[in-house]
Amino acid sequence: SNWISVDKARQTSAIAPDAEIRGWVRTRRDSKGGFSFIEINDGSCFGNLQVVAPAELPNYADEIQKLSVGCSVVIVGEIKESPAAGQPTELHATNVRVLGWADPETYPMQKKRHTFEKLREWAHLRPRTNTFGAVARVRNQISQSIHHFFNDNGFFYTHTPIITASDCEGAGEMFRVTSLDLEMLAKKGGPVNYKYDFFEKPAHLTVSGQLNGEAYATAMGRIYTFGPTFRAENSNTSRHLAEFWMVEPEAAFFDLSDNMKLAEDFLKRIFTDCLNKCGEDMKFFDERIEKGKIEQLTAVIEKPFAHMTYTDAVDVLTSSSEKFEYPVQWGTDLQAEHERFLTEKHVGGPLILTDYPSTIKPFYMRVSDDGKTVAAMDVLVPGVGEIIGGSQREERLDVLLSRMDEAGLNQADYDWYIDLRRFGTVPHAGFGLGLERAVQYATGMANIRDVIPFPRTPGNADF
Ligand code: 4AD
Ligand code: MG
Repeated sequence: SNWISVDKARQTSAIAPDAEIRGWVRTRRDSKGGFSFIEINDGSCFGNLQVVAPAELPNYADEIQKLSVGCSVVIVGEIKESPAAGQPTELHATNVRVLGWADPETYPMQKKRHTFEKLREWAHLRPRTNTFGAVARVRNQISQSIHHFFNDNGFFYTHTPIITASDCEGAGEMFRVTSLDLEMLAKKGGPVNYKYDFFEKPAHLTVSGQLNGEAYATAMGRIYTFGPTFRAENSNTSRHLAEFWMVEPEAAFFDLSDNMKLAEDFLKRIFTDCLNKCGEDMKFFDERIEKGKIEQLTAVIEKPFAHMTYTDAVDVLTSSSEKFEYPVQWGTDLQAEHERFLTEKHVGGPLILTDYPSTIKPFYMRVSDDGKTVAAMDVLVPGVGEIIGGSQREERLDVLLSRMDEAGLNQADYDWYIDLRRFGTVPHAGFGLGLERAVQYATGMANIRDVIPFPRTPGNADF
């Protein structure tokens, strides 16, 4: 067949006597002149292809004039230059085949505007809307750019396990893995019996691939992981998910400043690609979701990121006249309101905060000479807050062991991790970027539930 995507068909290079389009009806309008205009979208791009269907077609009255939003169709015809403004081409149909009807009485995605909150109830249908189609394409672009960036810079894509016994972040926010005991079930023939373990041993879903990533970095040099991670924190905010995707580069022989430079180059590459490769989608976000988004990202790409230590940030916060809900003092973790103040009001752009107190950061971060802070870095951005968390890792065996003691961790459980310091230890560093927060920042979408296809939040795993 001569199938082409709507994206291709909308370009003048597609002008041809015979083409086939497959997609879903967005609108239909019948003209008095004896034809119908049907707008088709197939997900390949933001825009629709206008189809002109003449009344001479054999199924004009029976089918074409009954087409409504959401119907699936295969349309054959000639792609011509369009006389209408805003679209270079249109398709003059010679055959319109309806594959599936969508009853306008019951199909929820009608032309009427629904709130994003309402659309979450139809997570399976919302990708058919302009906004969620655009989010899906930008999310895809960012995912592709992640792979391109790291491959271009000598990082090997490494798969780390989803099921694990270790708690990387030490925050106790893990989902336990349960194996269904079929034997017991068969014997009893009674109620389902769950064992809260992974074949007799405790295990849970990973909160981060970092520890395993470190093992590969201290052999391969530079690696990155990119996969789903899970947090059982019961927080219902616009920036937290129970299941999210994290990108975690890890590099041997990197210190904190190498790590910061990597993070900055990485983010700039992602946003550059969004602007260059998702032009139509980004224009939509700029006009309809967050005014000025394109200008903002362009500035982010052009200017160097601001840097500040945690200690200086605390000074800025305590000396500002801003009223915060949570008080700040040296040693407390920064809240979203503090991060927002720093990026939105103080700096007006991305900010890399470094050198946090060791007491509020995980055991694996490298202790600095002052004995009080660790070589940590968080990248904060306006509107979203923390999008990257990372650090130089503690490569000294004795210091690592005493940090683990302080954190109350059982050395035997982490023996394999400690081996990396016993045998050929090297300075190394890495970070984690939350994919969804990057998509939020790129698009301006306010709620993290709207940048992942099927969000997992407390109590929500229906779709
Ligand atoms: O700061 P976090 O917890 O760091 C780590 O997990 C490190 N092990 C990463 C590393 O150094 N390899 O998480 C990293 C990022 C955060 O900055 C945030 O963008 C995202 O992951 N994130 C979440 N995104 C959505 N929902 C949640 N509940 C998230 N928790 C963290
Ligand atoms: Mg963090």
